[in-house]
Amino acid sequence: MDGSTRQKVSLLVLVTCAAALRIDASKAPTGSWDRAAFLSGFQNAAEIPAHQVRCAQLPSDLVGTYYRNGPARFVGYDGKKVRHPLDADGLVTGVTLDGRSGTAVIRQRYVATAGAIAEYAAQRTLYPGHFGNPRALWDGGMRFKNRANTNCLWHGGKLLALWEASRPHVLDPLSLATHGEWDVDGLVGSCPMDNFAAHPRLGSDGGVANFAYAGNPAAGTTTVRFWDFQPGSYDLRSPAQKHEVPGFGLFHDFLVTENYFVLVASPATWGPVGRPTRALQMTLEFVTGKRPFGSMICFDESQPTTVHLYPRDERSGLRPIAIELDTFFSFHHANAWEEGDTLVFDTVSTPKINRWIRDDSSLKRTKRGHKGDADRNFFEDVDFERDAPRTDLVRYTLDLKSRSYARRALSTRHLEYPSVAPSVSGLRHRFVYTTAGSNAEGVTPVASVLKTDTEDASKSQIWLARPFEYCGEVSFTPRAGSTAEDDGYLLTICYDGRAGTSALLVLDARRVADGPIARVPLSLAEEEGGEPLPSDAIAGPGHGVHATFVPGLAPTLHEVQEAEEHRGRLGSRFLSDA
Ligand SMILES: [Fe+2]
Repeated sequence: MDGSTRQKVSLLVLVTCAAALRIDASKAPTGSWDRAAFLSGFQNAAEIPAHQVRCAQLPSDLVGTYYRNGPARFVGYDGKKVRHPLDADGLVTGVTLDGRSGTAVIRQRYVATAGAIAEYAAQRTLYPGHFGNPRALWDGGMRFKNRANTNCLWHGGKLLALWEASRPHVLDPLSLATHGEWDVDGLVGSCPMDNFAAHPRLGSDGGVANFAYAGNPAAGTTTVRFWDFQPGSYDLRSPAQKHEVPGFGLFHDFLVTENYFVLVASPATWGPVGRPTRALQMTLEFVTGKRPFGSMICFDESQPTTVHLYPRDERSGLRPIAIELDTFFSFHHANAWEEGDTLVFDTVSTPKINRWIRDDSSLKRTKRGHKGDADRNFFEDVDFERDAPRTDLVRYTLDLKSRSYARRALSTRHLEYPSVAPSVSGLRHRFVYTTAGSNAEGVTPVASVLKTDTEDASKSQIWLARPFEYCGEVSFTPRAGSTAEDDGYLLTICYDGRAGTSALLVLDARRVADGPIARVPLSLAEEEGGEPLPSDAIAGPGHGVHATFVPGLAPTLHEVQEAEEHRGRLGSRFLSDA
């Protein structure tokens, strides 16, 4: 397999976060959600220069900085729409909370990737997407840009913007200015197949583990790498690992326990299984720029999902273990732990994924004589309640001796972005935090904060946003001096699709149903010093994906503004530091 082919395969995984950016069409239960408000979040978001707001409701012991990443440049400089939101450039929102003074310092900035800079300079779209906007291979159809749009990681004194198909970008943690791509101290090369996943796992001891993968559809295998970093640095605890995983891997997330890296391999294939003529036809469509890369991925529902366990330290004497499970797909996992010969993991499971990632509607429109997909957003076309994959929070309990398993549903409400308290990462947990659909039965966009009690379902709690508001990933941070697992705060950005504004919400994790105890407005209105906005832009963050909270990291407004001055003052649109 050549490098470009492997890159294509690994990029498939970008699909990962699609499960969270879900939207629908026409048949939403009355009053449960506002489709127009949801769609409004897919306009370009403006950069926001550092400013401070007062929020007297902030708890006095809530001090630190919240970073959220997500795709946000949905319309190119030439007016062409990015067909699929996951193909849009990354935008990082930084919110420094200081409950001691009741203030918050806010700034928001696009990641200045090389590809984004090139498109800014050319004032037009230069690159294809993975899930839309295809191009013929001879017209740069495989020349993808690093979009840096999925997650943020704070570790070893560095703030990274992550995208799973390439290297991370280093950002200034104060101004959010982009320093450039990083090779992770020489661990990640610059070849197309070299990457650093967007779902690192932060251990309860302060260490971090991450992985990378590159699938080979021709060979039917996937190369996976693992790194296990020390607390506070990018020094390795144990030698880096490389494995060939059977099957065509599509890994967005992984898990880490005391002794194992955990990889959940769903049965994906390149083109439809058992239909070679159709697969060839689809490949030709892809080669000629009529079909996006993502539409080549097929989920083979006739095959089992396999969980692979790899010892974190190959010198330990432990051996890899593979256990076949039922057939499901999972973008995101909550947590895993070991108890003797048992390994338990909680994950967000869906039985079907094909329609969600195999968007070939652009091809159909082309056949009808339209201009392809440069004029329509994916979410403007799909029927959300029909096409978005229904998800459940489920627990798998693996018997490592007998290679058997048990599956138990923890929540059947449609949900995404599972997380647990950092103190129990890799250890036994009781509570899982997610954002969930507004409707208990149907599949609707995520618009709530859900706390699932895995030991006593009657004690699970949910808070619903208003029908025109949409919530992102929920991050837990402990209260000062706390010992109980759920004694802390939940943070999430909530987008108001009618007003086009956002707020960072703070909830008491023990009283989720009571709703936010503090709301920090994030959007900077023109009268407050914001730049005039184009009519098709929103003033704050819209729908994002993953976030992280860094306790104790609390620069002042003056310090953040000094950093901005050092790197060049922001414009409202983009890249004054490029
Ligand atoms: Fe993700």
